[in-house]
Amino acid sequence: MLARPPAFLYKKNDLCCERVPLRKLAEKFGTPLYVYSATTIRERYETLDKAFRAVPHTLCYSVKANANLSILRLLARLGAGFDIVSGGELERVRVARKSALKKIVFSGVGKTAVEMEQALRAGILVFNLESEGELEVLARCAAKLRKTANVAFRVNPDVPAETHPYISTGLREHKFGVPISAARELYRRASTHKYLHVAGVSLHIGSQITDVAPFRLAIERAVELIEQLNEDGHTIKFLDAGGGLGISYQSANPMDFADYAQRYAEAITGPFKKLGKSAPHLLLEPGRSIVGPAGALVTRVLYQKQNGNKNFTIVDAAMNDLIRPSLYGAKHEIVPIRLSNPTPPVVRADIAGPICETGDFLARDLDLPASAPGDYLCVLDAGAYGMSLASNYNTRMRAAEVLVEGTRVRLVRRRETLRDLLQTETACL
Ligand code: LLP
Repeated sequence: MLARPPAFLYKKNDLCCERVPLRKLAEKFGTPLYVYSATTIRERYETLDKAFRAVPHTLCYSVKANANLSILRLLARLGAGFDIVSGGELERVRVARKSALKKIVFSGVGKTAVEMEQALRAGILVFNLESEGELEVLARCAAKLRKTANVAFRVNPDVPAETHPYISTGLREHKFGVPISAARELYRRASTHKYLHVAGVSLHIGSQITDVAPFRLAIERAVELIEQLNEDGHTIKFLDAGGGLGISYQSANPMDFADYAQRYAEAITGPFKKLGKSAPHLLLEPGRSIVGPAGALVTRVLYQKQNGNKNFTIVDAAMNDLIRPSLYGAKHEIVPIRLSNPTPPVVRADIAGPICETGDFLARDLDLPASAPGDYLCVLDAGAYGMSLASNYNTRMRAAEVLVEGTRVRLVRRRETLRDLLQTETACL
């Protein structure tokens, strides 16, 4: 069992990413700073890939989790496909590795005609349609361009998944997918369009799901549907099981990823084997499980203050850098990047940023060895949905990102400047 994500370990009292002390990175690149371990990303991708080795499959990394071009390129080189939800993400994949365009699955409830045409021209693998309206728009776009589109419907299997309500997606009342009961008729309709080719069934029940049982249940329902679609005369080449595999955000409660990936793979491939020879190629859309534990956010302590009985450690990272604690009540582990000897007394404090909202915090009532202005702290497991959800709220420039591999450090996104920020605006009156 791993006491802490292996990407970030103390060596002689210094917290390091692989073999580089975070202090060095903070001093060189400034803070707030996202730091990623290339080796961890690679290992986690390979572990997941290996877990599914018994069936033909493609891991289509979910770009939204962390869209940095270098991370996309690293994964594309390993053979990954990509799950995208916008024309912007499509262009990121093109820049990262053009040859990966043909391994793209395009999900999302609101694809525009412009985005669909962009994806048709790029020759993506499959469109995961989420409504009858999308079906009609795609049929028109494909006919206009005279390009055949592979289509799947994202079916809503009505399976509850234990996770934060904002990121649970597989229930009837959610905006996602089409009701599984309406699917046969939609597939029939799709097959009447000359430029649409019925190719798959897809689903995604939510994110940060740590129990594998709901995945199994959802696949069982998808398999029933595939049997019916086969009877109706369609050929279902792909089953897209979505993403959603969770991670542990607390090192006191570790998960052995290889074991966990294996149980996940069994939950998905178990019901799927029932299809025998007509079993489709399996697609998966993992995001967090690959990049989450591979990244951390380094921040500097600005001030210590006390209001009433409460202590506050004010740091230079805020909810605009990492919104997960504010938005989902996520509890990221936060640790000092240098252990001092003797260990200072533990102080209970909120770790809060400079943004003008009470909801701006990275942790509440956290027990940490006392720190002083100028010290650095590290927010762990911030590789997924950290930088990709960052904003410029309070006119704060977004953080820089570095990718570490062994002793090698690459700046994969420079810190934003005020000029970058203001260049799209005019002061006209
Ligand atoms: N496929 C689809 C269609 C999705 O909507 C998502 C995530 C994924 C795949 C990837 O899921 P993953 O393997 O990363 O769980 N911002 C939230 C998470 C939002 C998830 C959105 N959809 C958070 O920070 O927890």
